[in-house]
Amino acid sequence: MLYVEILGNLPGMARDEVKAMLEPAGGEIAGQDYLFLKVNADERVFPFLDRLGLAHEYGELIVEAESVEELLEKAKEVEWPIKGTFKVDTETMANCRHNVLDLPRKLGAVIHAQGFRVNLSRPDTLVRVYCGERLYAGIRLRFFDPKDFEGRKAHHRPFFRPISLHPRVSRALVNLTGARKELLDPMMGAGGILIEAGLLGLKVYGVDIRPEMVEGTEMNLLHYGIRNYELKLGDATKLEELFDKKFKAVATDPPYGTSATLAGRKRDELYRKVLESIYGVLDKGGRLAIAFPASFDGKKEAEKVGFRLVGRYYQRVHKSLDRYFYVFEK
Ligand SMILES: C[S@@+](CC[C@H](N)C(=O)[O-])C[C@H]1O[C@@H](n2cnc3c(N)ncnc32)[C@H](O)[C@@H]1O
Repeated sequence: MLYVEILGNLPGMARDEVKAMLEPAGGEIAGQDYLFLKVNADERVFPFLDRLGLAHEYGELIVEAESVEELLEKAKEVEWPIKGTFKVDTETMANCRHNVLDLPRKLGAVIHAQGFRVNLSRPDTLVRVYCGERLYAGIRLRFFDPKDFEGRKAHHRPFFRPISLHPRVSRALVNLTGARKELLDPMMGAGGILIEAGLLGLKVYGVDIRPEMVEGTEMNLLHYGIRNYELKLGDATKLEELFDKKFKAVATDPPYGTSATLAGRKRDELYRKVLESIYGVLDKGGRLAIAFPASFDGKKEAEKVGFRLVGRYYQRVHKSLDRYFYVFEK
C-alpha cells in the first residue's frame, strides 16, 4: 500500500490529479483522511506519481491504527524497510484527533529496537507519521520540493508576463488530461502550461494570437531545455485550420477579461468559440482541462458543444476573481 499527501489549497483537484496518474498503471485510491490518500498500487505507478503537481509527497504505507497504542503495537510486528539511518517525523493534520506529542520518540524506540540507528539531522530514511481521524506510519519515497515549482514561477522565466498560473496548477492541468505523449495549449500566453508538459517529456503544441507570445514561449521553453515543440501564431477559435491532426490532450487558461488579452473579442463569445474549436481537434475520449471565471457557466456551454464534464474545481484567486478549473471529455 502507498500513500500520497496532497496539498490543501485545491484538494478536490489534487485528489483527481492523483487518480488520473494512477489510471495508466492500474492503481486506485483506497481511502482518504483529510489530505492523506491511501493508494492501492505497486511500484509501476512511481513514474506517474513523480509527475504530480499538487502533492507534498508520496511513500509506502507501513502501518495504520485507531490509536497511538495500537500503532506502536503494530509497529513492533512489522519489518521496517529502512535503509541506513532514520528519523520519525509527525504530520499533525487539521483533523488530528490523537495525542501525538510523544509519538516520534516512542515509535523511534520501537524501530531502533529492530537494529536501526537514529540520525535526527541527516537521516537516510524518513519515517512519516500522519495524524488525522486515524494514524498512519510510512516511509517517504519522494518529496516534491516547493522550490522546484517556485523556481519556475513566471518572474523567473526569461520572457515574463504576469498572466501565468502557478506552475503546480499548470502541472495538475496537464496531468488531469491524462496526457502521455503530447499536449496542445491553444492560448498558451507565456507558455506556463507547456513548460510543465515539456518537462514531463511530452511533445508540446502551442498557439497564441499575439506574435510576442509565440516568440516569448519559445524563449521560455528553450530556457528549461524543452526542444520538442511546435508553436504557431494563430486563432484558438480556428484550430482545425491550424492543425491537420487530432489531439488526445488539451490544457489551457483563456484570458479572463482585460481587453488586451481578449484581442478585441467579447469574452463569453470567445469562450464558446474556443470550446467548439477545441472539440473539433480532440480525439474521441480525449480530454480538455480549462479554466474559466466563475461568472461563465463552463459546464453548460461545454455540454452544448458535446463535452462531458469529468471534474470541476473552484478557486478564489482574489476579491475580484474566482474561477473554476474544468476537466471535460469528448
Ligand atoms: C491567460 S493567458 C495564458 C497564460 C498561460 N497559461 C501562461 O501560463 O502563460 C491567455 C492568452 O490567450 C491569448 N489569446 C487571446 N485570444 C486568443 C485567440 N483568439 N487565439 C489564441 N490566443 C488567444 C492571449 O494573447 C494570452 O496570451
